Amino acid sequence: MLKRIAVLTSGGDSPGMNAAIRAVVRTCIYHGIEAIGVMRGFEGLMEGDFQTMDRASVGGIIHRGGTILRTARSDRFKTEAGQRAAVVHLENRRVDSLVIIGGDGSFRGAEALGKLGFSTIGIPGTIDNDVAGTDVTIGYDTAVNTALTAVQKLRDTASSHDRLFIVEVMGREAGFLALEVAVSGGAEYVVVPEIPLDIAKMCEHLHYSRKKGKTHSLIILAEGVMSALELRSRLQDTGGYDARVTVLGYIQRGGSPTSFDTILASRMGSFAVESLLKGTSGMMVGSVCGNMVLCPLSEAWKSPKPLNPEMLALVEKLGV
Ligand code: F6P
Repeated sequence: MLKRIAVLTSGGDSPGMNAAIRAVVRTCIYHGIEAIGVMRGFEGLMEGDFQTMDRASVGGIIHRGGTILRTARSDRFKTEAGQRAAVVHLENRRVDSLVIIGGDGSFRGAEALGKLGFSTIGIPGTIDNDVAGTDVTIGYDTAVNTALTAVQKLRDTASSHDRLFIVEVMGREAGFLALEVAVSGGAEYVVVPEIPLDIAKMCEHLHYSRKKGKTHSLIILAEGVMSALELRSRLQDTGGYDARVTVLGYIQRGGSPTSFDTILASRMGSFAVESLLKGTSGMMVGSVCGNMVLCPLSEAWKSPKPLNPEMLALVEKLGV
């Protein structure tokens, strides 16, 4: 019988994490289980930085961006000494299971705790959407919409001045955000880490569309490929283009979650607790075809999650 469940957020924050925390805490309360918040992710866990959570401590946070538990990226937790220190604190506090809300790196940490015999469950929260085992991660939809709002404004000025714009979005190793922003923003070109950039082909494409009468163009670039300034100078050198540059940066990680992310986070948070109650451990909650599912934590970071080829083709087709 579970008596105490702890919850933490780890890695880069994402809109909707608070809604997930609220769902974990409220589902615990619903079942008469004590809920404990761990501050600053694995860093706080190794220091035993715990806070008892009640109904009121998650009141009014459903629409708030960021994470009330705060978050961190921890190198110390990658060591066995750090992981053992975390387990000691969890056991001293008599915690039975730990819910980890974060990205693939956070789930490696969760797996390490599992290997030390501690019960964990993961909830995918990252704007990058680069977690296998789930169609979508918490915060991705909000980040796409934040970037799209900026792209819509940039298109206004690009079209007024007949200009070429490069918009740099987040995504060090994955192009999900860039691809979805490119399709929804009507961009002419998308540059993602998964596909090698052919600068000559890009210039040819831009030249062709100008010849066909297109007066302005937008390129969406994922930050992991190169900086927007570097792409700008390569376009200048290869095709003589004078592109304007906008880097969206951390603005994409903030703000109130969309209704999609709020509902996703609420479902995932509640499902995580229900799964722990059924004896589940070492798994990650996912959303596949709209249904809540479970997959092994290791799948989240070991399996590749490919970009949708149909979406990639769409940018090329619709950007003619
Ligand atoms: O959370 C994911 C992410 O936003 C990536 O897209 C980005 O490259 C990275 O985090 C930035 O991380 P940090 O907060 O460590 O600068």
